[in-house]
Amino acid sequence: MPGVNILLIVGGGIAAYKACELVRLMRRDGAGVTCVLTDGGAQFVTAMSLAALSGNRVHTSLWDAGAEAEIGHIQLSRAADLVIVCPATADLLAKMAAGLADDLATTLLLATDTPVLAVPAMNVRMWNHAATRRNIGWLREAGVAIMEPDEGPMACGEFGPGRLPEPPAIWASAQAMLGGSHPLANTKPGPLAHSLSGRHVLVTAGPTHEAIDPVRYLANRSSGKQGFAIAEAAAKAGARVTLVAGPVALATPPGCERVDVESAAEMAAAVHAALQADVAVMVAAVADWRPANAADRKLKKGTTAPQLELVENPDILAQLARDPRRPALLIGFAAETHDVVAHAQAKLASKGADWIVANDVSGPPGTSAMGGDANAVQLVRAEGVEAWERVSKHEIARRLVARIAEALAASAQQQPEALDASAQQEPEALDASAQQEPPEALAASAQQQPEALASAPEPRDG
Ligand code: C5P
Repeated sequence: MPGVNILLIVGGGIAAYKACELVRLMRRDGAGVTCVLTDGGAQFVTAMSLAALSGNRVHTSLWDAGAEAEIGHIQLSRAADLVIVCPATADLLAKMAAGLADDLATTLLLATDTPVLAVPAMNVRMWNHAATRRNIGWLREAGVAIMEPDEGPMACGEFGPGRLPEPPAIWASAQAMLGGSHPLANTKPGPLAHSLSGRHVLVTAGPTHEAIDPVRYLANRSSGKQGFAIAEAAAKAGARVTLVAGPVALATPPGCERVDVESAAEMAAAVHAALQADVAVMVAAVADWRPANAADRKLKKGTTAPQLELVENPDILAQLARDPRRPALLIGFAAETHDVVAHAQAKLASKGADWIVANDVSGPPGTSAMGGDANAVQLVRAEGVEAWERVSKHEIARRLVARIAEALAASAQQQPEALDASAQQEPEALDASAQQEPPEALAASAQQQPEALASAPEPRDG
C-alpha cells in the first residue's frame, strides 16, 4: 500500500514481539510505518528493533524536547492514515476508554481524529472481566475498531480468547479499514466504510468436492462468485474477513484471509477453526453426500459399473447454529428450483439460521444464478420476506453487508455487548426463530428433502 502511513503503538504485553512481524509485513507492502513504544512495550521489544524494521525513528516519550521541535507529538498521529494499537493491553484499553493521557501513546490516542484499530492481547480472565467488556463496548461505540483476540493456549498457561491475532490477519483488517488494496490516495471511502470495523465476518463460498477415488469426485456448479463478493464487501466495510473457499478459480478479495478447502468435512473443520465470529454468511454449496468409502487407488473400468454408496455430510450451518460459539448473526443461503420462499422459510427454522437468502436457480447452466454474474434473491427473516430485483452479485453483496451492519448496530444499541463474539458463551440468536427446532427435527427435515441421488449433489450456491 504505497502512500499509506501507519502509526503503530506498541503496548506492554508478551505479544509485543509480534508487532515486529507486523511492521515487516506493512513495510513489505509499501506502507510507511512510525512506531510509538510504551514503557511497558519496551520491556518486551527494543526501540532499536522497531527502528530498524520501520526505517523510522521510534518515539517513546512525551517529554522529548528534541522530538517536539522536529515534529509536534500531536502531528504524529494526525499525519497517519491509520493508528494501530498492537498489542492493546487491558491497561491501555482502560486508559483509552477513560480518556487518560499520561504518556505519549495515550496522549496521541486522545488527540487523534485518525481511525484507530486496537488489537487486544491479554490473559483470558482479563479479557472476560466485566471492566474490560465495558471498556471494549464503550470504545466500539466511540468508533474504535477492536479486533477479536484469537483463542488458544496462552503464554500464562491458560487457554481461551486473549491471544494476539497473527500479524497477517491484523494487516488484513488494517488494509480493509484503509479501503482495500488501492493506495489510499486514490480511494474514497464508500458508503459501507467502517460500518463493520472491528467485526469478524466468516464467509463460506463455492462448491465442495467429494472424492470417489484419487482422480474423480462429486461436485456441483457453484462458482463461488456470490460468496466472494460478500467477503469483499464485508472487508470493504472494515470487517476482518475469513473466507473459507471450496475449489474455485477466483482471486482472493483484498483484505480477506482465505482458507482453501476441498470437501465438506474440511469446510466444517475450517469453519470451526475460524470461530469466534460476529457474523457467519454460509454461501457455500456444500455437498449433501459423499461417497461412503473413497478408494485410495483409481477405480478401473470393468465389466460392470461401480455402485456408489453415499453417506450424508455434516450440515455446517445447522451445526454452527447449535454451537456454543454461534455467531450472533447467522445467515444461510438457499438455492431452489421451485417454491423458493416456502423452502427458505422451512430452512430458517430447521437450520436455526437468523436469515436465509433464497434464490431461484432454475434454468439451464449459464443462464441461471448458479455460475452467472447476476442474481435475484429474497431475504427471508422471521419478520417477513423481501424480494430484491435481479442485480449483480456484487450489488447483492453490498446490500446484504449494509443490512448486516444495520442489524449489528441496532443490536449493539439495545444490548451493548450482545453482539460481541467473545462474550458469546451461550448461543444467542438475533430473533426468536432461531433454535426453536430440536436437533431431531433437523434430522427429520433432512430426510424429508426430496433430493434425488443424481451423480452430483444438489447445488446451492451461485
Ligand atoms: O439444506 P440446504 O443444503 O439447501 O441449505 C443451504 C444452506 O445450508 C447454505 O447456507 C449452505 O451453505 C448450508 N449448508 C451447510 N452444510 C451442508 C449443507 C448446506 O452449511 N452440509
